[in-house]
Amino acid sequence: ATLQLYVDPLPQMPIVYGFSTEGGNPVSTNLTIGMYPTNWKFHRDLPVTPVFVYGTSAETATFPGPTIIARHGVPLYVKWENHLPDLHVLPTDNTISVANSTMGGVPTVVHLHGSVHPPQSDGSAFAWFTRDYKEVGPKWTQTTYMYPNIQPAGNLWYHDHALGLTRVNLLAGLLGAYIIEKPDVDDPMDLPSGEDDDLHLIIADRSFNTDGTLYMNSTGNVPSIHPQWQPEYFGEVITVNGKAWPFLNVARRRYRFRILNASNARYLNLSLSNGLPFYVIGSDASYLAAPVETQTILLSPAELADVVIDFSNSTTPCAEILNSAPYPYPTGSATTGTLLSKVMIFHINDTKVFDNSTIPDKEVNYANVTMPEPSTTTRYIVMYEYTTQSGGVTHLYINGLRLEDPVTETPKAGATELWHVVNLTPDNHPLHVHLGMMQAINVTEIVGYQQFFDCMTQLNDAIKCNVTDHAIGKTLPIPEYEKTWKNVVKIEPHYMTSVVVAFKIVDTNQSYPFDSTAEPGYVYHCHILDHEDNAMIRPLKLLS
Ligand code: C2O
Ligand code: CU
Repeated sequence: ATLQLYVDPLPQMPIVYGFSTEGGNPVSTNLTIGMYPTNWKFHRDLPVTPVFVYGTSAETATFPGPTIIARHGVPLYVKWENHLPDLHVLPTDNTISVANSTMGGVPTVVHLHGSVHPPQSDGSAFAWFTRDYKEVGPKWTQTTYMYPNIQPAGNLWYHDHALGLTRVNLLAGLLGAYIIEKPDVDDPMDLPSGEDDDLHLIIADRSFNTDGTLYMNSTGNVPSIHPQWQPEYFGEVITVNGKAWPFLNVARRRYRFRILNASNARYLNLSLSNGLPFYVIGSDASYLAAPVETQTILLSPAELADVVIDFSNSTTPCAEILNSAPYPYPTGSATTGTLLSKVMIFHINDTKVFDNSTIPDKEVNYANVTMPEPSTTTRYIVMYEYTTQSGGVTHLYINGLRLEDPVTETPKAGATELWHVVNLTPDNHPLHVHLGMMQAINVTEIVGYQQFFDCMTQLNDAIKCNVTDHAIGKTLPIPEYEKTWKNVVKIEPHYMTSVVVAFKIVDTNQSYPFDSTAEPGYVYHCHILDHEDNAMIRPLKLLS
């Protein structure tokens, strides 16, 4: 039986402030956030689902976890605790490179996605820990992480990052939103604000068994090699803030929605059923120079769009958020005519209400990104997928290497680099670089693809395979709403995407006020979590 649409109200996650106030001034604070097993109700007609979620206590833990509101320039200390039981709620696979607890317990580690912070607080996949830190990974050093909050105002999120378990730990619910407020930047824009008008929409697909438990295939697609691992998790149910296809009653005024695609592998191409536009004000962790009006927004896993919707002009009493992205993206199954084409519904009240918010003409002008100088360090980052003779995907690598292989990306702290990212697979991959901030500046098709592909399969060297003679095809436009600093860049199949990656504080041009070269370093990876786990992830080590 399929679940009925639009029967549960959209919840908002509890808010936790990442600063305290002393004499009217924001000051640093310490939080303790735990990971707890709990039962979550995803839909009126679905039995409760055992999940693993974040909370300030077992009783207040939610799917997704609490939204942390931090203040620019005010460091936040978070002690992350693991209160999870001996056994996972989802199947795992010991044939991939994976955090292995020998004493029972679920290995976890927390990464604040999009944040500029020291390596010891990055949540290295090797810095995992189980309940009460009973067992820890080889790079574990500390219980408490420090987030300096020194980057542009914007939207981050925190989520699990344990080696080889990221896909199942997030699927179980270990994720939550994080905002960096900067009142002198945020307030003059008069955007919709306050807890009724400024809301998160955290979208994630999940499948359920009839008893309510989360469903994930426990048999791999090439089980002789990986008994459980599958190349992409796609759920049959779309959840928003932990409810399947919820509804939200809205007034005839403007709202701000921070829309996060927290799915493992599903892309979302979002639109509104009644033709209302989105005014995109920010993308990932920073504002745009000016709002961009658009009918559709394409979000890869881990991508975020900060938007305003103005319901005052609606000609209909409701508006659905629709999703038209094929899965896998871009050449997989269509969502047309299925419940996967629906996300949630807004019921729009009849009466107009007073609204003193605006959609500003101008927002924030971060330094314009131009093609870097000839002296800029350039790197070729190549995405590979490996299959059996019969075509079953066995694993995916970056540059033909694994996370454990020696580091090859060693930018200087303070540098801005140009990464040419070549996608040799049929699917789009969301590239995420820890610490750095990114902007795509060019997307060019590879001409003579098969010849280039064959050469790369042999040599794994873009320069020896004459990449510059091949990256000469048609170019794709970069959507206006992505023209700002980002944490995730979509990498088109069979194209070369050139990405500026800045290892500095992008709005002030300053270098990091902490030692970014320390152990255990950082990583960059594909944010399709099933790919990241096996093993589209590489180390990133800054040099001084
Ligand atoms: Cu959103 Cu390395 O993670
Ligand atoms: Cu990928």
